[in-house]
Amino acid sequence: MKIINNPEELRKNIEILKKEGKTVGLVPTMGALHYGHISLMKQSVLQNDITVVSVYVNPIQFGPNEDYERYPRPIEKDIQVCQDNKVDFLFMPTNETLYNKNFSTYIYNNNISKIMCGVTRPTHFQGVCTVVAKLFNIAMPQRAYFGLKDYQQYTIIRQMVEDLNFNIEIVGCPIVREESGLAMSSRNTYLSQEEKVQATGIYKSLCLAKQLFAEGKSIKDIKSAVEENILKIPNGKIDYIELRNSQNLREVTDSDKNIVIAVAVKVGNVRLIDNMVCEK
Ligand code: PAF
Repeated sequence: MKIINNPEELRKNIEILKKEGKTVGLVPTMGALHYGHISLMKQSVLQNDITVVSVYVNPIQFGPNEDYERYPRPIEKDIQVCQDNKVDFLFMPTNETLYNKNFSTYIYNNNISKIMCGVTRPTHFQGVCTVVAKLFNIAMPQRAYFGLKDYQQYTIIRQMVEDLNFNIEIVGCPIVREESGLAMSSRNTYLSQEEKVQATGIYKSLCLAKQLFAEGKSIKDIKSAVEENILKIPNGKIDYIELRNSQNLREVTDSDKNIVIAVAVKVGNVRLIDNMVCEK
């Protein structure tokens, strides 16, 4: 595995491999790699000749009072995880190599970035789209892999690829959960043991919602049931509970057949997101 910090160096390496006819898969991450990330790597290794993993805590997707400084950065462990999972290139740019002094061009989704997480994190998806577009231009992959835990991010990236004519297939990979049902996330390291147990209430609420949807209950009733359940989590505070169309995140009515139930909940001081796709 080659570890590369410089965007130009990665691009040159990839150019040579693509001339040889090799296919490239990109797994963009912010590090603190867990089984969710590993599932993306495995999928990429399966589908491509070359797998590039980027590990970069992207400052422009964090708001002023968010956790950019304290975001976990276990570099040595991340290198080992990539090595163990047959990654060919580990790309770890620095802020200086990725954002030059005059950096001033951003990508902004003017629609679905304003709902759900976008309400409390108004610049988040602009930061995500901008860095992902840069990574696409540097690594030039045929495919890129995103976890469905960040369902809104996945949908916005798909929209960006369509809107801006990127010739890249976006592969959404299923949420990986702890045995308890808690969705894996780098931010779970912020939770105490007790909070980890409490946070499983989120998964249980989503399972209940899925069951109610299958039984034909109304959107309003499902939302109330999820709310009632999440409010039982000690120290739990609801940021949002949304039931939306799973293709495009538009608002749904009782006649919709494919929906995603997405929630953001603070457990103690830790904001967690999770979702479940439901069909009938
Ligand atoms: O999902 C993440 O880890 C990040 O938002 C991403 C896609 C790597 C962009 O920084």
